[in-house]
Amino acid sequence: MERVPFLEDKHIVLGVTGSVAAYKAVILASHLTQAGALVDVILTEAAQRFVTPLSFSAVTGRPAYTTMWETMETGEAAMPVHIVHVGLGEKADLLVVAPATANTIAKLAHGLADDLLSVAALAARCPLVVAPAMDAGMFEHPTVQENLARLEARGALIVGPAEGRMASGLVGYGRMVEPDAIIGHLRRALGQSGPLAGRRVLVTAGPTRESMDPVRFITNWSTGKQGFALAQSALDRGAEVTLVTGPTNLAAPPSAKVVNVTSTEEMRAAVLSNLEGIDVLVMAAAPADYRPVSASAQKIKKGAADLHVDLAPTPDILMSVSKQRAQSGWPKVLVGFAAETENLIENARAKLNRKELDIVVANDVTAAGSGFAYDTNRVTLLDYMGGVAPLPLLSKAAVSDAIFKRIEMILHERDQPGITAPEEADLE
Ligand code: CTP
Repeated sequence: MERVPFLEDKHIVLGVTGSVAAYKAVILASHLTQAGALVDVILTEAAQRFVTPLSFSAVTGRPAYTTMWETMETGEAAMPVHIVHVGLGEKADLLVVAPATANTIAKLAHGLADDLLSVAALAARCPLVVAPAMDAGMFEHPTVQENLARLEARGALIVGPAEGRMASGLVGYGRMVEPDAIIGHLRRALGQSGPLAGRRVLVTAGPTRESMDPVRFITNWSTGKQGFALAQSALDRGAEVTLVTGPTNLAAPPSAKVVNVTSTEEMRAAVLSNLEGIDVLVMAAAPADYRPVSASAQKIKKGAADLHVDLAPTPDILMSVSKQRAQSGWPKVLVGFAAETENLIENARAKLNRKELDIVVANDVTAAGSGFAYDTNRVTLLDYMGGVAPLPLLSKAAVSDAIFKRIEMILHERDQPGITAPEEADLE
């Protein structure tokens, strides 16, 4: 797991309760720590039947807590007995209970406070995320459902459970959601009051495919990495995100609404039908520009000395969006990419003008460490006011953050003309 700037130095309290899924909480603690978060783990007594505090302190490098009744005497954790729970709860940016048993869910829902986790939960004022794990029959019980509904009504985010086979052999809803998906949901909860809270963002990602016959297609080298990073960055900043994506091998951020498409025409239809009320559209996808005029219904057999395939242009999605925006006003901010191999700035500026964009992200796809398939990218942001901001070689996550900072400034200007956004100073 790589470092995630958004999670760096966030205080996360992880409550672990007595379920066989507790071993997965060790992976969750480990991945959060590797991402840069400070993870304090509280184990209930039942949790310690499945995993030990040492498993957690070994991966977090911090003490793991089990009881209210002993003084934590050493190191950073030194706190008098009666305030361990207050200290943990107060400094937390987020409390996540994973796995959460029916018993702990009931305690959280009703305010019972008879162990360190339930007491810390009452002292905490941060977002609460609960990842239930229990046998399917138990999860469906009306009492559990009522308790979860009560927590949700109070603002808690309930993640899962997922469907699958449980320890009892039953198959149904009851398995804890996998650790990396839980991290996706934690990011959503942590970012909920971020600079894009209440905004709706549409991101496109990946290549498209244009069929030649049932076994062949035309495509390009896009992997979707930059688009998926943009979707995650928008979620981290509090936006509601729709991700329209061509075929990729990437896992989508769990709290995005994902629309899978194959061809450029399908991507165009998906973008246009999701455009209403959108504040920001970022077209990071690399749609195929040409398609075979007619796809053969049968596999084209080899044998001919040469094969000619007639190609026709596909529709330009950004052009369609620009036309629609002239009438509807949506999206408020329109961002495109310019994948170039020569004359980067001139070509990108021409695309900005032709497609009536607010920002074009100029991407020299031949530069070292930049463009298709890399985890890094070197881009220059050009805007409709003539601004040109070259960025250094950055991770695709950091590129996404820089793009959204610029987008936020434009949104702010459009909402309150004449007033400068407070973030303006941080752009580079
Ligand atoms: N784009 C689009 N519809 C297409 C092709 C591209 O909306 N059919 C969008 C891309 O998502 C990107 C921008 O247009 O945001 C520029 O894409 P790019 O491939 O750099 O340029 P093209 O417009 O295809 O022009 P050219 O191939 O001549 O560089």
